[in-house]
Amino acid sequence: MPKDIDVLIIGSGIAALMTAARLCTKKKVVIITKKHIRDSNSMLAQGGVAVAIAEDDDWKHHFDDTMKAGCYANKEEMVELLVKEGPGIIRSLIDDGLLFDQDEEGNLLLGQEGAHRMRRILHAGGDRTGAFLTEYMIKRVQEHATIIENETAIDLLVRDGVCVGAVTRTEQARIKTYVAKHTILATGGSGGLYRYTSNAETITGDGIALAYRAGCELEDLEFVQFHPTMLYVNGHAYGLVSEAVRGEGAILVTRTGERVMQGVHEMGDLAPRDVVSREIYKRMLQKEEVFLDISMIANFEKRFPTITALCRQYGISIEGGSIPVVPGAHFHMGGVKTNEYSETSIPNLYAVGEVACQGVHGANRLASNSLLEGLVYGNRLGEHLLCNKHNVSIDDVDYVSMPSIGYSLPTQEEIQHVMMEYVGIVREEVRLLQAREWFESFLLQGEVHVTSFTNEQLTTYNMVTVGWLITKSALERTSSIGAHYRQDREGMVEGVTEDEYSKS
Ligand code: SIN
Repeated sequence: MPKDIDVLIIGSGIAALMTAARLCTKKKVVIITKKHIRDSNSMLAQGGVAVAIAEDDDWKHHFDDTMKAGCYANKEEMVELLVKEGPGIIRSLIDDGLLFDQDEEGNLLLGQEGAHRMRRILHAGGDRTGAFLTEYMIKRVQEHATIIENETAIDLLVRDGVCVGAVTRTEQARIKTYVAKHTILATGGSGGLYRYTSNAETITGDGIALAYRAGCELEDLEFVQFHPTMLYVNGHAYGLVSEAVRGEGAILVTRTGERVMQGVHEMGDLAPRDVVSREIYKRMLQKEEVFLDISMIANFEKRFPTITALCRQYGISIEGGSIPVVPGAHFHMGGVKTNEYSETSIPNLYAVGEVACQGVHGANRLASNSLLEGLVYGNRLGEHLLCNKHNVSIDDVDYVSMPSIGYSLPTQEEIQHVMMEYVGIVREEVRLLQAREWFESFLLQGEVHVTSFTNEQLTTYNMVTVGWLITKSALERTSSIGAHYRQDREGMVEGVTEDEYSKS
């Protein structure tokens, strides 16, 4: 049993790596990831990092845009930390040699994305920002932290109400227990629960399921953001076509050239993602196809090399000037409830990055705020644990491995279908009730022992658990707000308007 671990991190995206980077020269840090260190949503992030560093920008503008996008359901103090601490962290990364894209005079290039009042998105390698940032962070931690790949966390170890580590299973089905002073969930969101998603294949709500089984508090699970534009070919979604493409002038059109966002919202094609996604979804229900007209963007291939390669891989020629698109699950605003230090309701258990819900995103995340969230809250958590004097020695911990039991599980495709069609972009009570009942027929009753599952079955069981939790939360929130749209409660819109908020 690996012991003497100061900090055990489950997951390997930007929040995990930033936390590790703050700690790994001073503490014994172990990172466990269920596939490869580079298998994360952060690695796929295209748009960039939103940060108020332009001369005419201000953290207050970034704060206001974040609150407005989140329908003012965000926690103000958490947003303030994000937008105030972000510029300093970004500057120190730049000073350390991280290269964001610049013009010929060496000025940082700033992109435009939906619901930002101005250009404030730093990018690297064109549309490879996440990959640049992740590789940079891996370099910082790999010599100091222990990185364990191909190991799946199957349960958290909680003794006397305190988290003391986690149990994993190797690819060879060996069960291992890791005893640690501090355990961090950094497993990303839950995009893989949906048929169409921008997320990496490994992202299946695991952290939320682990936390739920451990009895940890969760929050805002109904808030799932759909990104309007995944590449859509032959009924399949194949990854993201960044909003930065619309930021550079691309427009959404039907096959006959009709503009999809005309007259729908004052921000047109750069309206909030839920608005744009619903408009495309409506068109699709009418059997219309929707395309991004990119014909006006000069040097598309240079500015968007990842998207160009993705399109070519699936037979779409950029030179044709249009990309077929579909909305897909992109970001989970809800998750494991945390505070400003990423502490959860279970002592010595933390959550950071997309799996966490400290309230920065409210009901709808502002574009390109998630890499920033990972950096800021990863940094804060690292600092917090550096100052932590917790030095309790932990004895060996028993973990009971249960024998195989009879159970039936749906396929992952069935779950993805139910989530997309019943708990997706547009929701209504009758369908949510059907989905809840369906999920409940697969949930194990009483104390759940997951050691009897294979890793694949465990992933499916985690998806069932999180699908059920999202559905329950979506039923409980009976009016619409941000990414949660209740078609059956048309007109019942929650939250305050911009005017009401500024007067309050
Ligand atoms: C995008 O590039 O469109 C995604 C950026 C984000 O979701 O933050």
